[in-house]
Amino acid sequence: MTEAILLVGGQGTRLRPLTINTPKPMLPVAGVPFTVHQITRARDAGVTRIILGTSYKAEVFKEFIDASDLGIEVVIATEPEALGTGGAIRFAAEHLTSGSDEPVLVFNGDVLSGLDIEGLVAHHQRTNSDVTIYLTPVEDPRAFGLVPTDQEGRVTAFLEKPTTPEEIVTNNINAGCYVFKRSVIDQIPAGRVVSVERETFPQLLAGGALVTGVVDPGYWLDLGTPLAFVQGSKDLVLGHAPSPAVPKTGDFLALEGARIDASANVHGGSVVGRHASIAGGAVVNGSVVFDNAVIHEGARISNSIIGDGAVIGAHAIIDGAVIGDGAVIGAHNELTDGARVWPGAQLGDTAIRFSSDR
Ligand code: GTP
Repeated sequence: MTEAILLVGGQGTRLRPLTINTPKPMLPVAGVPFTVHQITRARDAGVTRIILGTSYKAEVFKEFIDASDLGIEVVIATEPEALGTGGAIRFAAEHLTSGSDEPVLVFNGDVLSGLDIEGLVAHHQRTNSDVTIYLTPVEDPRAFGLVPTDQEGRVTAFLEKPTTPEEIVTNNINAGCYVFKRSVIDQIPAGRVVSVERETFPQLLAGGALVTGVVDPGYWLDLGTPLAFVQGSKDLVLGHAPSPAVPKTGDFLALEGARIDASANVHGGSVVGRHASIAGGAVVNGSVVFDNAVIHEGARISNSIIGDGAVIGAHAIIDGAVIGDGAVIGAHNELTDGARVWPGAQLGDTAIRFSSDR
């Protein structure tokens, strides 16, 4: 039996305003809350018990888990206040039943990946590592902390984001999934904020622990930003990213009760949520339309997220934007390049253009 801890307590600030009402791992992606893709992948890799480490909006997880059967035991641990990634692992560990030498998987709650989970655990056991870290190679590592390894795969350092070309000593970054020896988790200080990346891992290296890296070049995406969120959803719908929880792959996914006019054009891995409607002549390309949203005739939506119950007026152009739940965008507005509209906001019928780099 393998146990896992899934960290889902972050505030998801980069995905605001979507995360004002819903914590990031509970946002729907390809028809189900994102966390379901992770839980079912872990289940299919042989994990039999998973502890959800919650903090921000913990009640949303509880309500969902209480009403679901995902074919795996799910236990919810709720921190009295956010304890950071390391503190959350330590807190969740109170619910583990594994013995001190047994492996415990830990997943960041916003990573979509094709990782060979069983292979990672097997490697951890074979090398008798204290911690084994899933590493992914990225083309441009400037936005990430780097994790160099030696010839035997032993992690040699945890480096901050590189600022000069000389500091790019590897393209491998921490991909947000680990196997810990249970006893190593028990050594993380309890009851205070701890960052596993900035505190626990560097301390383990300094203390001579065996920290091993496994580079897996398969699919990997951190769904932390709106653009990445849309990309992950598209990849799941199109079948480029693996998940047992995607009901059907194809050019788009229309959920129960969605209404799409025969003259609308929905494609590029888009999702049309439950009871959402797309009127005639509208184009929805590579976008996520949440439940109950209304897209009026001739609107053009691309690479965007349209919140629950939001209304997009006729002939509006929404490209690379996030529209909050219940917002109303009048006809002919143009919102592009990072524009974000707060939940419930109303933009009248006009021809305004708004774009933002934020
Ligand atoms: P941003 O605020 O947009 O950076 O997103 P985030 O809050 O998710 O933070 P980040 O991406 O750095 O977090 C990595 C993972 O750890 C995510 O799955 C978070 O849900 C989770 N996490 C971060 N902080 C905490 C915490 O204090 N408690 C718990 N339980 N999980 C956390």
